[in-house]
Amino acid sequence: MESAPQKTIYFGTFVHSLEPTHLDICKNGAIGVDEAGKIVFVERDVENVEAVKKLHDWTSDAVVVIPTTGFFFPGFIDTHIHASQYPNAGIFGKSTLLDWLNDYTFPLEGSLSDLTRASHVYHRVVSRTLSHGTTTASYYATIHVPATNLLANICKARGQRAYIGRVCMDAMGPDYYRDESAAETLAKTRETIDYIRSIDPTHETVTPIITPRFAPACSTGCLADLGALHRETGYPIQTHISENVPEVNLVKELFPERKGYADVYDYAGLLTDKMILAHAVHLTDEEVALVKARDAKISHCPSSNTALTSGCCRVRKLMDAGIDVGLGTDVSGGFSASILESARQALGVSRFVAMTEGDAAKLSVEEVLYLGTRGGAKVVGLADQIGGFDVGKSWDAQMIVLNNVDETAQTHHELEAPVDYFGWETFPDLIHKWVYNGDDRNVGAVWVKGKLVHETSKSKS
Ligand code: GUN
Ligand code: FE
Repeated sequence: MESAPQKTIYFGTFVHSLEPTHLDICKNGAIGVDEAGKIVFVERDVENVEAVKKLHDWTSDAVVVIPTTGFFFPGFIDTHIHASQYPNAGIFGKSTLLDWLNDYTFPLEGSLSDLTRASHVYHRVVSRTLSHGTTTASYYATIHVPATNLLANICKARGQRAYIGRVCMDAMGPDYYRDESAAETLAKTRETIDYIRSIDPTHETVTPIITPRFAPACSTGCLADLGALHRETGYPIQTHISENVPEVNLVKELFPERKGYADVYDYAGLLTDKMILAHAVHLTDEEVALVKARDAKISHCPSSNTALTSGCCRVRKLMDAGIDVGLGTDVSGGFSASILESARQALGVSRFVAMTEGDAAKLSVEEVLYLGTRGGAKVVGLADQIGGFDVGKSWDAQMIVLNNVDETAQTHHELEAPVDYFGWETFPDLIHKWVYNGDDRNVGAVWVKGKLVHETSKSKS
């Protein structure tokens, strides 16, 4: 379900992050979006749509969108998600990272060599993430080129902005699921890059991302080749770092000549400002400084870190160090494809850290919403295009609906979205209620580049 972008005035309440601690709440606002999906104006405190049309006469024949209840919010950015692992969301038992990979993950990923199966899984994960308001996702696919290319096709067709990573692993995994050599890794990565270039030459919607799975899964030669490919093509990179303690110890064993985990990537030329590092739970102070010095980005994946008992990421410390941090669902280490759930889990994890390390560790609702939008935009290198409602940015947005239970309300929202709005709360209260109680039933509609890509009432199929 898609529709082409049209000149549109969005009229109502807009909420977006200006900085980590500050949410801008604009009531009676109007945002004008052109046919290219770009925000052309943002007006505050306007009386009605007619007044807006007078101010901006190019909108005289514009479509007008006015929510009955709720507010507009920037689309969420999932900075780390394994599309291929979606069927396992919620299935991990009591496993931890390294046994989870062998017992649950490699068998599932290996099975996506079957293109019919891959098509089914990838259609579902894109539908599900869009329904949760994710307008941009940085995906890991599998080692299979045809299935990875198929994921790119699906994201492009559905209109979800996506980074598509063909998973590189020549040093770990069962025989049926690993690259035979560094040369094969490089050749297959190039194949996917060429394919994505052919379907989206300017990367309006889908962009390749170089994806060494993590240091233990890659030989030194493979990492060096991927570093050279990054220098040659300029494409971004994603990987995992310091997720759990046995993994960190394994890296020490496998790369004894390197100073630490971050240094393995740095030595290979991978630790740059276009690198997204997932987890970063157990980084040393020296590594935090190195990540900052290279301006590499971090994807915080709290649902996953709790589910796989990996540890509690010190997000405050990373933010204080000046590192750009975003949120990731890390499906299926993480059990939910929702960034709102990741935001909630980030609040919880920061409170657990605060219980032993002091109140400064606590993140606020405002901060986790920043991480899920403007912070995420920096992490994926699109800070100039997405993450907030600024003139010149793209209309990548979601309409949040709330359930108005005010006695005087004429109509309750038909979807019975699970956030009851009594009418006497302050607007910040409502946002806090949404973050702690909301889900995809609160997502009434989703747009990417001005194009409607999901609508709850029409998404039953
Ligand atoms: N480290 C290496 N591969 C993976 C993966 O698929 N998920 C997570 N969470 N960590 C990893
Ligand atoms: Fe992951």
